[in-house]
Amino acid sequence: MLTDSAQAVEIPADQLGSQVHWEAVFGSDGPVEIDVGCGRGMYLIDAASARPETLFLGIEVVPKPFYVACERVARRAIPNVRLLRADAREFLAEQTPPASVSVVHLQFPDPWPKKKHHKRRVMTPEFAASVARALRPDGALHIATDIADYFDELLLVVEASGAFRLVEEGRYDAEGEIVTNFAAKYREQGREMHEAWLALDATDTAAPAGDAPF
Ligand SMILES: C[S@@+](CC[C@H](N)C(=O)[O-])C[C@H]1O[C@@H](n2cnc3c(N)ncnc32)[C@H](O)[C@@H]1O
Repeated sequence: MLTDSAQAVEIPADQLGSQVHWEAVFGSDGPVEIDVGCGRGMYLIDAASARPETLFLGIEVVPKPFYVACERVARRAIPNVRLLRADAREFLAEQTPPASVSVVHLQFPDPWPKKKHHKRRVMTPEFAASVARALRPDGALHIATDIADYFDELLLVVEASGAFRLVEEGRYDAEGEIVTNFAAKYREQGREMHEAWLALDATDTAAPAGDAPF
């Protein structure tokens, strides 16, 4: 059961309506970033504290980490974070207004290493298309993982969509970088991590003013 302050952080999925209205959800206007599979919320908390003008939505499908994230955000009274307990694939495909999101983060998605489980992976051609539709013309997709093969596959799927161009690719281990719960753990273990930034390839569309990542 969530405390009252944590309940204020949660967007009740049944009250979302057919499409989310960002300004109504956050009570303010600003660039929106979505953290897909936000887990226990470390990235959201640190990124939102560092960039108070940006609105962060964490989406987490599993109740336990979701409630931990809600309580942590509420305890710190961070005004620019909301959390949604939902399948991010459905939210992005159905309830995200087109061209309304600045950045979609997909950090350390579950790799589902067994072949028979590959269909459970979040990144699919359909998901890449949903992300492309949700992003503003100046928007970007950020992906990170500790598994080299999976990183290559994520990039393959995203690039095959034809909707993105690779802007940056490299190691995800910079000292002082704002990191996720998993990245913090892997950094301590000295494990190599990989990340990429892909810009939406929509150069023919006029970009709205704002904090474009690129
Ligand atoms: C390996 S964890 C990484 C969590 C966090 N991003 C981090 O780096 O610490 C992957 C998370 O994605 C969540 N997840 C998996 N599929 C999801 C989906 N379709 N929608 C929302 N969350 C999802 C899982 O429940 C899990 O918490």
